[in-house]
Amino acid sequence: MRTSSFGSARGLTLLFSMLLLLLTPVCHLQGADGEATYVVDAARELGRINKNIYGHFAEHLGKCIYEGFWVGEDSEIPNTRGIRDDVIAALQQLNMPVLRWPGGCFADTYHWMDGIGPRDQRPARVNMFWGNVPESNAFGTHEFMDLCEQLGAEPYFAGNVGSGTPQEMSAWVEYLTYPGESALADLRRQNGREEPWTVRYWGVGNENWGCGGNMRVEYYTDLYRQFSTYLRDYGESDLYLIAGGPGGRNPEWLDVLMDGAGRMTDGVSMHYYTVPNTWQNKGSSLEFTEDEWFVTLQKALGIEDLIRDYISIMDRYDPRNRVGLIVDEWGTWYDPLPGTNPAFLRQQNTLRDALVAGATLNIFNEYRDRVKMANIAQTVNVLQAMVLTRAGEMVLTPTYHVFEMYKVHQNAQLLDAALETPEYEYDGEAIPRVSASASRDQAGTLHLSLCNLDPSSSVTLNCILKNADSGRIAGRILTAETMNAHNSFEAPESIGPAPFTQFEQTSNGLSVTLPAKSVVVLTIE
Ligand code: AHR
Repeated sequence: MRTSSFGSARGLTLLFSMLLLLLTPVCHLQGADGEATYVVDAARELGRINKNIYGHFAEHLGKCIYEGFWVGEDSEIPNTRGIRDDVIAALQQLNMPVLRWPGGCFADTYHWMDGIGPRDQRPARVNMFWGNVPESNAFGTHEFMDLCEQLGAEPYFAGNVGSGTPQEMSAWVEYLTYPGESALADLRRQNGREEPWTVRYWGVGNENWGCGGNMRVEYYTDLYRQFSTYLRDYGESDLYLIAGGPGGRNPEWLDVLMDGAGRMTDGVSMHYYTVPNTWQNKGSSLEFTEDEWFVTLQKALGIEDLIRDYISIMDRYDPRNRVGLIVDEWGTWYDPLPGTNPAFLRQQNTLRDALVAGATLNIFNEYRDRVKMANIAQTVNVLQAMVLTRAGEMVLTPTYHVFEMYKVHQNAQLLDAALETPEYEYDGEAIPRVSASASRDQAGTLHLSLCNLDPSSSVTLNCILKNADSGRIAGRILTAETMNAHNSFEAPESIGPAPFTQFEQTSNGLSVTLPAKSVVVLTIE
């Protein structure tokens, strides 16, 4: 039996839940095989879940931008000013709060002036990190802002530190946001945009320990200080600057960066990819055993330890919690699908990815104090995508459905809760079987997001609701018969959310049967 609890009154809550269980007339005993207990105190709001935790990332990589979002105005695929309508309509359902662009590794090769002005005069470049394919620059700054407006998402620009200059990045900010007269603002007007845009989020480089320049942290920290000096607020943008933090486990990088630049930044990024096997042989996105199912979820859950460790470093330099931990790349990374360009990072997306998404988002909710934004990689056709496209066709992935089901948590208040869960044991190792999160939205409705990570056994969750009446309850579930259930162009509706009714009200809450390998969201009015 594993116990996890969160909130400042963690110990007290647990004690309370023990007492409550002793008193409860419901016969779901702790420790019984396949039974979990979740005590939610609706009177204890722990703080707002920043909607930006449900953010996304789109890079000039493979078929994410070109073909995924951008087909051009002359395409037969229905589009609005070159951006495909089917993808926009699907993503609008997610209430996407923020979209990061143009990379990734691409960002530190990107010179933004290549992507403005008449399209037929934009220079073609080579996309050196992603297959040496031509980059037409047809999709640039104005197209990205149009995309964000069509999605209703806030833009998050990743600036070029690796091969760019402070002057170039500073000019990008001025071009986009300066309301007055200047050569750059006038150029923006000449290119069709009279009013300045509001662009708040700016990443100062990307993975500068790797593809962003292979720098040492001392050098990058100095560059961060230099670049950020010239990134100024014009108009109403109120810039939020994000320094390039560690990828995976690299506490030294974060430590030195916070020490040298913590006072000059609003956020520090971290990247966390879940690779089942090794970087050389990652494993198939579609054909996998329970062994890989287990290890994928085990590694995905590992982000929690890392977030905790990183928070403790940040707490030392920023005890008032001003600087956000921005997980601006996360998700599963498998071998490329056979027959595709390996540099395009195209993979399928199965029920396993849905469980990774559900459990990870529950973790982000829990650490919402510090985790102020997260951006899953990547929105269309790349890595753990929301949608896959093939010419004029599009399918929604299981991960898409989790983001759609979980959108109820955006900007809601996290509720104090304590979870006791049996373990999912596999081959001598164990992870918690249940992952859970509870919030209350602005209308007062409670939402529980629950995952059963075990692919074979259901679990009964005895949910005790304190200080709340469980009036009308409705539920949705994402599950399937097989671990690798997925949607394809041939069978686009194989897996999707369905109404969920396997719960009953009890004297102090509800009892929920979570089927094996499922994601459930309950709404309690
Ligand atoms: O998302 C794919 C790549 O992963 C990004 O370009 C890079 O930042 C990371 O290594």
